[in-house]
Amino acid sequence: MSEATADTLSDFGRAVRDGLDQVRKTIPARYFYDLRGSKLFEEITALPEYYPTRTETALLEDHADDLGRLAGRGRSVIEFGAGSATKTPLLLAATGATTYVPVDISGDFLAQSVADLARSHPALRIVPVVGDFSKPMDLPALPRPLTGFFPGSTIGNFDHRSAVDLLRSFRETLGVDARLVIGIDTRKNARLLEAAYDDDAGITAAFNLNLLERINRELGGTIPVDAFEHRAAWNEDQGRVEMHLVATREISFNAAGRRFSMRRGETIHTENSYKYTLSEARLLARASGWEPVAFWSDPDEMFGLHVWVATGDGPRP
Ligand code: AVJ
Repeated sequence: MSEATADTLSDFGRAVRDGLDQVRKTIPARYFYDLRGSKLFEEITALPEYYPTRTETALLEDHADDLGRLAGRGRSVIEFGAGSATKTPLLLAATGATTYVPVDISGDFLAQSVADLARSHPALRIVPVVGDFSKPMDLPALPRPLTGFFPGSTIGNFDHRSAVDLLRSFRETLGVDARLVIGIDTRKNARLLEAAYDDDAGITAAFNLNLLERINRELGGTIPVDAFEHRAAWNEDQGRVEMHLVATREISFNAAGRRFSMRRGETIHTENSYKYTLSEARLLARASGWEPVAFWSDPDEMFGLHVWVATGDGPRP
């Protein structure tokens, strides 16, 4: 349906139309995750170059006792994003959580991860919430206080200002006496970072290029995907890995009801993945209504797992 108009376009359609209209073309990273993109991301998490998933998982395992003590025992756990099959059970076990609330914009992914978790945790009360976790939200009635869980360095997709806004919003949603368990990828050697986002097997390239295929599938796109290549580059000044799709020749195509042209070498900026030193991560906490209470890292400081406590509750009336 290449005749899509402004009023019939989905969120994805509007984001693509507006993003490709910019002088510097860009599409928000959250649109990577259609069914195929989610499967490719699962494959990324198992790649030898992609250290975050296995490092964070090991930290959750190795520090389960301290985590249980510091993140609060027997609480309701609110996960921002549909749960990961391996990490979520580790946090639930470490904290002895009674109630688990995954919040995700996609009802389908939520239903799948809830079904998996219910099978392995028959006694757990699971309360899925379909919604946009980037805005403050009203949670259903839950045993309080609450512990938030935001693993995987998803925070890295947000620029510094948006990251502060997001973490403030978590603080507001979670309320009095909240704790937050958050995984944040560390700043490190550019070569390691770039390898993690440009693996030898080409899975990350396929993940990036799938965004163009998704546009062709869902938005009446005529993008010649073979005219693009994947690029991942560490931006030292900004402290982030950038992913781009680079046009290797001059092209024109339709997408989301518009016609676009690109010069050879022009790029579509598809993702930022910000990295924080362990102390920058603590500064981020303090800038957004949280106080760090603990963090753990591996010996090479490849990844940080942090526990924060909500500040600023003030005296109760
Ligand atoms: C899911 C956003 C944390 O930035 O490392 C992995 C996504 N992109 N490889 C990340 C991703 C390319 C991932 N996050």
